[in-house]
Amino acid sequence: MLDSVTWVDDFGHIHRSWNAELSVSAGKLRLLDQTLLPERREYLETADLECVFDAIKRLVVRGAPAIGCAAVLGLAAVIRRQEFENSTVLIDQARQVANYLASSRPTAVNLFWALKRCVELLNPKIAVAELKDILLHEALDILSEDIEMCHAIGRNGAPLLSSGCGVLTHCNAGALATGDYGTALAPVYTALENGISVTVYSDETRPLLQGARLTAWELQQAGVDVVTICDNMAAQVMREGKINIVIVGADRIALNGDTANKIGTYALAVLADYHSIPFYVAAPYSTIDAALADGSGIPIEQRDPEEVSCGFGRRTVPRGVKIYNPAFDVTPQQLITGIITEKGIIKPPFHKGIGELLQRR
Ligand code: MRU
Repeated sequence: MLDSVTWVDDFGHIHRSWNAELSVSAGKLRLLDQTLLPERREYLETADLECVFDAIKRLVVRGAPAIGCAAVLGLAAVIRRQEFENSTVLIDQARQVANYLASSRPTAVNLFWALKRCVELLNPKIAVAELKDILLHEALDILSEDIEMCHAIGRNGAPLLSSGCGVLTHCNAGALATGDYGTALAPVYTALENGISVTVYSDETRPLLQGARLTAWELQQAGVDVVTICDNMAAQVMREGKINIVIVGADRIALNGDTANKIGTYALAVLADYHSIPFYVAAPYSTIDAALADGSGIPIEQRDPEEVSCGFGRRTVPRGVKIYNPAFDVTPQQLITGIITEKGIIKPPFHKGIGELLQRR
């Protein structure tokens, strides 16, 4: 398994994290810099707003739940180091910081959910010092809940896996994308703990290679049998009978089950349908957007064309050629076999199960 690291937060509470991807200690947000993986394991430590914004934008920290956790820990760290005349001024500033961080990436709803949850707690009747503590406590609560949710998703999803089966996943929805255990990879880790070993086929995930650089890295660290394939090999690997199940994460799930995830997920769902392979999404309730009836309203992040034409420093498309670089796509709910959540597996019709999950929260 990945290293477990212990740290002490600003209140002296001791925390353990599986990979120490996210924490606040000594007033600073600490992040594993995922842009450097798999070659270098370095941490970024900051309480500077621009730096936190940039870390989310540049994918130093990425993955829907991890972005939410990083943003609120960042908000807490930024506000903690500033002096305020009174509570109203602090609340104004916290709202501005939250709005700014929320503008870093548009698709993963966890970012807005987590920031809103923190800002809503701020009340001008509370003293400045206490408001600062409230922000940090709430951010740490969101992180702890995320860790719990990952483990519950693992417990709920593990029975879908049997010894020796082949699991195809896309992008990275593992420990690096969450507070601890991952979403799509959580069933794999739980199965492994129960003595069930599977082979994970990790899509490379062009253009930023989260599958090759991150999923393959963390699964290898954890002792999971992992095979990386280029994105365009998935159909062939399915036809060869190597894939028994597809499990992917999610950045935003609409009330009818339509799911936004890393670009290429939709294509995998179509392929899985064609080959009669079950296609599962794994996500906590914080990824559900209760304001969206279906996926048509999910904003799709458009990223820098250079990621496609000049990825990792090498020009692979002639200068001047037009590039289109949407970072996410939406998989229609009809192609999804089930949604693995912390409360169990939701089966179609999804609007019913999703409605019940939201009510139980
Ligand atoms: O652009 P990224 O790397 O943040 O995209 C991440 C994904 O698409 C993940 O699958 C999703 O956020 C779920 S992470 C548990």
